[in-house]
Amino acid sequence: MIDRRRILTLAGAVGASTAAAPFVRPSWAQTSGLKVGLLLPYSGTYAPLGEAITRAMELYVQQQGGKIAGRDITFVKVDDESAPPKATELTTKLISGEKVDVLMGTVHSGVAMAMVKIAREDGLPTLVPNAGADAITRAMCAKNVFRTSFGNSQVGNATGLAMVKAGIKKVVTVTWKYAAGEESVVGFKKAFTAGGGEILKDITLPFPDVEFQSILAEIASLKPDAVYSFFAGGGALKFIKDYAGAKLNEKIPLWGPGFLTDGVEKAAGPAGDGVKTVLHYAEGLDNPENRKFTADFVEAYKTRPDVYAVQGWDAMQLLRIGLDAVGGDVKNRPQLFSAMASASFRSPRGPFKLGTSHNPIQNFYLRELRGGVNNYLGVAAEGLADETTGCKLI
Ligand code: BEZ
Repeated sequence: MIDRRRILTLAGAVGASTAAAPFVRPSWAQTSGLKVGLLLPYSGTYAPLGEAITRAMELYVQQQGGKIAGRDITFVKVDDESAPPKATELTTKLISGEKVDVLMGTVHSGVAMAMVKIAREDGLPTLVPNAGADAITRAMCAKNVFRTSFGNSQVGNATGLAMVKAGIKKVVTVTWKYAAGEESVVGFKKAFTAGGGEILKDITLPFPDVEFQSILAEIASLKPDAVYSFFAGGGALKFIKDYAGAKLNEKIPLWGPGFLTDGVEKAAGPAGDGVKTVLHYAEGLDNPENRKFTADFVEAYKTRPDVYAVQGWDAMQLLRIGLDAVGGDVKNRPQLFSAMASASFRSPRGPFKLGTSHNPIQNFYLRELRGGVNNYLGVAAEGLADETTGCKLI
């Protein structure tokens, strides 16, 4: 159900404009506001992820004085609860009920696939600020759908490359049994086995279960060189703590895509020390965009941004590039989509551009969590693209 109390208008909100917008020719379209529908989790294990994305988007619009390409931005927020069965109804409510001009969502791959199925039929400008479901930029790719995050296999692949480089030979994988976890493991195995690695066992549990005790006992008996794990949000924090509680962190290094530690680095405390992850962002990345973004985010919210915030920020950057190209006329879809598809800009994560299926081609970084900070260790993969298997832009 759409929670009207969550509808937030940023029209007229003023903040220090930092990234000056290029000159935009006024057009008829600028006479009205522009509604951006946010289908994101605001409850459940992924709630902090939805919140981080929203905060970055709101900050971006605030820094533009509440307007993009001359149009007042209004966000309409809907809690998708990371529940795939509710996704079709909620997406339809945003598109047909709220009549949003742009759709942004979501975090959970299962919810995102249902959302994209509707969005690609409707043709509405749609930006995915997290969910990594491979299909979104493979078989389900579409002219109107753009992702500012990653593909699940893509980040698994980058992590596999780093684990091979670290000399790890035998691994147990553990994840939630749904698209994100499973595809992340597929991508990981591809790189890891190609590099001579061996998989001792793949372990899964239903999303969003956090009963890890029997799994940890099984890992201990299998004695791998390392564990590859995909978890995120509250579940990731519980896994890190239980892993250390079982003292596995003293003998079997814990690895995974950086969702394992992003947003929970402080809460993990000493249990998180030594966890190695690979991601398309690292908080200490030394570039002007990251320094500025981090300072502004900390000032606004008294907490550091994580990868989810960066993905939300970049969704707004991408949308702005598109809207500037059409003078705010969101109905001029061919030109809007063409400007977004060819966009290239500097993100806090480093250089950002999209591949032919509208998934980012980007660097991946190796990080080690210590003392509540995901310390940057180096580049794990440079300019890595995801496969575009089955993508025919409709
Ligand atoms: C996903 O479902 O695609 C996902 C959720 C959290 C973090 C990363 C990916």
